Amino acid sequence: MNELMEKAKALGSKFYSSVFRHNFDNTGLTKSKIMFSNVLLHIQPVKIHKRSIKFKTSMGLGLVTFYLFLILTVTGILLMFHYVPSTAIGPDGLPDAYSRMLNLRSNVFWGGFLRNMHRWAAHGMVAFVALHMLRVYLSGAHRGGREFNWVIGCILGLLTVFLSYTGYLLPWDQLAFWGVKVGTEIAKIAPGGALIRGILLGDTDVGSEALIRFYVLHVAVLPVVMGFLIAVHFFRIRKDGGLARPADTTNEKQIPDEEFGEVKNASVFKSARSYKLVEIVKGKEPKVNEEVDQMMFAWPKLIVRELIVLLAVVGFLSLISVLFDAPLEGPADPNHPTNPSKAPWYFLGLQELVSYHGFIGGIVIPGIMVGGVMFLPYIEIFQETMIKGFNKNYPGKWFARERNLENALFIGLYIFMLVLIIIGVYFRGENWAIVYPWEHVSGGGH
Ligand code: HEM
Repeated sequence: MNELMEKAKALGSKFYSSVFRHNFDNTGLTKSKIMFSNVLLHIQPVKIHKRSIKFKTSMGLGLVTFYLFLILTVTGILLMFHYVPSTAIGPDGLPDAYSRMLNLRSNVFWGGFLRNMHRWAAHGMVAFVALHMLRVYLSGAHRGGREFNWVIGCILGLLTVFLSYTGYLLPWDQLAFWGVKVGTEIAKIAPGGALIRGILLGDTDVGSEALIRFYVLHVAVLPVVMGFLIAVHFFRIRKDGGLARPADTTNEKQIPDEEFGEVKNASVFKSARSYKLVEIVKGKEPKVNEEVDQMMFAWPKLIVRELIVLLAVVGFLSLISVLFDAPLEGPADPNHPTNPSKAPWYFLGLQELVSYHGFIGGIVIPGIMVGGVMFLPYIEIFQETMIKGFNKNYPGKWFARERNLENALFIGLYIFMLVLIIIGVYFRGENWAIVYPWEHVSGGGH
């Protein structure tokens, strides 16, 4: 009997070691092995600067944005099992795409919940990408070698909005149809805008061709491009030396020794970072011992925190999705515009500007804003190079006094857009006239 038990144990441990190449003891070696023997974990470094796990460093906003992207991918794939991008009228007298929405709500097991999750995560992602960008700028994290990652981030931000917008049309209800129509009308004002609009819609107006194009962009093209750019974004964070921090943190509190775990065989893990190969390369000795007492193992503290944020995001989103239904109005009717016809909320600032002046509000101001923000780090570098004594490079320092003007302007830009969006959502009624928020207005904006 004992022999049988021994054999079963040996079999079990062979199976275990074929899956996991480590145990979970408290040594530096194990902590490293856990990180680089797991495909999901190895994307992150074995050791990180202790500032990286502090809430005030990143507030986890980029992480939340990433999780929302993952949730959108999973719920989006599940929704694809039930959706058809067709405007053809079915036996129930309704366009196919719209009738699939009704079906989701009433006949598919937890279908309404699935749709709600997808919808609220999409809105959430737009909001969180904006908050993430604000934190990056206000903590000076767009500088110190991270300029190019800022540009990649901006492209990701624009793609996030476009991904959300292409999805907005798919339910093919009045809200979707007129919301998207308004957006594509704005595109017409731009030089070459009519051509882009034509390519996007595949027709002279929003119709069945547009639905198929938006669908393909929404479920295939944009997610794949974004997935790739997110990978580049993360790769750059590692190559740029982790999250932004002040140039010298050696005077900050050191990590207590026990955090490093037992150090086996006088291993390199406590005393130096493992850049031994680099040291062989001819040239100056690499400065790898810098700040070694501020570096900590990513396992388990970082990974546990990341899991907690994931659970919080999924939990909160589930709650919202149980409590609030995603809007669905009557089926799209190209002959009966809603009045007002509002674009989704993130475009309402733009729509509000257009209501004052088509070209200046719809093209000039947004063009300057998007271009200016995207190349902001380079504009700062240009000034620094041209003007002596001009230094705005304070990576990882929240509200650096030297950056007061820049920060104030950036916050001003956010407030400007927020005010326009609030006016667009709550204070615009029929014929775009000013109304009070407590007067009921249908016609979109959410
Ligand atoms: C799909 C959109 C995006 C995702 C999923 C994403 C994700 C992330 C994550 C996970 C981080 C690590 C720190 C953190 O959790 O906050 C990060 C850092 C960073 N992101 Fe993003 N991001 C996105 C969009 C943007 C945008 C719009 C910008 C700016 C225009 C941006 C610029 C940066 C920069 C410069 C860093 C490095 C910050 C540092 O070193 O402290 N990202 N991003």
